[in-house]
Amino acid sequence: MHINSLVLAFVAPLIALTSAAPLMRRAPATIHTKCTVPGTFALSFDDGPYNQTWDLIKTLNEENIKATFFINGNNFDNIETESVTTSDGVRSYLDHLRFMHTSGHQIASHTYEHAVLTGLSEEEVTRQMNALSDIIYNTVSVRPRYMRPPTGAYDDTVLNILGNLGYEVAIWDIDPKDYEDYDLQRKEDVFSSYLDQETATPPTSAHMSLMHDVHPQTGPYLLPWVVRQVRAKGYRFATVAECLNDPRPYQ
Ligand SMILES: *[C@@H]1O[C@H](CO)[C@@H](O)[C@H](O)[C@H]1NC(C)=O
Ligand SMILES: [Zn+2]
Repeated sequence: MHINSLVLAFVAPLIALTSAAPLMRRAPATIHTKCTVPGTFALSFDDGPYNQTWDLIKTLNEENIKATFFINGNNFDNIETESVTTSDGVRSYLDHLRFMHTSGHQIASHTYEHAVLTGLSEEEVTRQMNALSDIIYNTVSVRPRYMRPPTGAYDDTVLNILGNLGYEVAIWDIDPKDYEDYDLQRKEDVFSSYLDQETATPPTSAHMSLMHDVHPQTGPYLLPWVVRQVRAKGYRFATVAECLNDPRPYQ
């Protein structure tokens, strides 16, 4: 017997014994609260896909805008099993993922079941992330590298687990709370309060806004207004990864 085989025969069982416990963990997830590339504006949409999402994607495409969707697997509907009527007929939610992906929008994670991650076990956080990542991978062959924790809730434990799973955490800096009511003027005022602060042309600031494609007012009414105002200020629309100058939206 060669010496290497002897060594292997001795060491292999030890490796097998210890492999259940991860030997090395990755660093805690980095938190991004705003875009960093001057003059960029990242539109992001949470909680879908749902019954307004298809047409919202069409609106973005008509405007030649790439946005970011922080999707769930089982929130308003179950995206693996359910379909919805759109302006193009009945489409499965997995078709929605394909439509987002082929249109150039960034697909990001908002957990499988919109789970608030603080207080959950490592196993449950891992399940929430992996279950959705698997669905996305099986549908469009990419795994998201960006995630947004539901309600924005995280702590050191959550960041450690997410970092170990390879995620970056994207929060936001503009939040019109579009899910709260139907007061369009109030929501527009939130955007204006940020846009009005920018006086340079082209803009030197950069923003990451939070909206919800599941809210009936957002796609048809709030989004077109936001697009007009943001363009009038001279911002360039970008995905979350692009506005952070990150060439890797996926793992
Ligand atoms: C989406 O579903 C909700 C709840 O069933 C319904 O009230 C709403 O009208 C639907 N919207 C569209 C565009 O189908
Ligand atoms: Zn959410």
